Amino acid sequence: MQAMKKVVFPVAGMGTRFLPATKANPKEMLPVVDKPLIQYAAEEAVAAGAEVLVFITGRQKRSIPDHFDTAYELEMELEAKGKHEMLRIVREVLPKGVDCVYLRQPQALGLGHAVRCARPVIGDEPFGVILADDLVQTAGAPVLSQMLEVHREHEASVLGVERVPEDETHRYGVVSSETVSERLSRVNGIIEKPKPAEAPSNLAVIGRYILTPRIFDHLAEIGKGAGGEIQLTDAIARQLAEETFLAWEFEGRRFDCGDKLGYLEATVEYALHHPELREAFSAYLRELDTRPRD
Ligand code: G1P
Repeated sequence: MQAMKKVVFPVAGMGTRFLPATKANPKEMLPVVDKPLIQYAAEEAVAAGAEVLVFITGRQKRSIPDHFDTAYELEMELEAKGKHEMLRIVREVLPKGVDCVYLRQPQALGLGHAVRCARPVIGDEPFGVILADDLVQTAGAPVLSQMLEVHREHEASVLGVERVPEDETHRYGVVSSETVSERLSRVNGIIEKPKPAEAPSNLAVIGRYILTPRIFDHLAEIGKGAGGEIQLTDAIARQLAEETFLAWEFEGRRFDCGDKLGYLEATVEYALHHPELREAFSAYLRELDTRPRD
């Protein structure tokens, strides 16, 4: 079994739900407390052993490569001012030994199309996909690391899933599956954004995947699916006929940071866990709670 060395980050989406904040800036650069979403995603990939981060970018995404590049002027200035802690933080944005590859998705044709763009750099190995706007807070191992264990043990593709309210299935890829053990099931069907009446279950795929390169053949063959887009879900549905896919109900709490409310919730929860802010922010929330409302 080959190791998962590469993780793909599709970041070419328009982020329309956050306009005007995302007019000139990608949604993946929105900060949750003090780190942009894409950095949480990169850290999760590196924690799972990724050595190459593959970003599928589009227009207006220059700040993502800038974020992961060395910032010489900034580093020199911090050094000159003796701000060593800040210097360390800036230098650790990308751990040593990790490479970034940026590929441009020429047109925003959907998630499946974005993943397909990664084909030339993936080669013949399993790889991960992280959608940075699905941010997952865990007490232990990050989600991709949890999924990697499943992948190693069963030598199969793995989808990160969670139960969602039945009236929200139209926002997700939804699987039908047979239970293997607690948290683990074998996928026998998947459908993109089904209406509640058509959904096979309420087990929704969140933005974490471990895939085999065979997916690229299917991505090359499928046409447009839900929303007129080339859907990763449709390629997975085809690959299911020939390879096992497992669904892992991850341990952790997911925030949909592509949505304003989810983003605010993430900000509050991450602030409550932030060593510098925890106390003062809890005090603020307590005070807010007692404040009379009109
Ligand atoms: C994408 C996928 C969908 C998945 C979701 C998770 O949808 O197409 O299958 O459930 O991410 O966030 P999007 O949110 O890009 O519409």
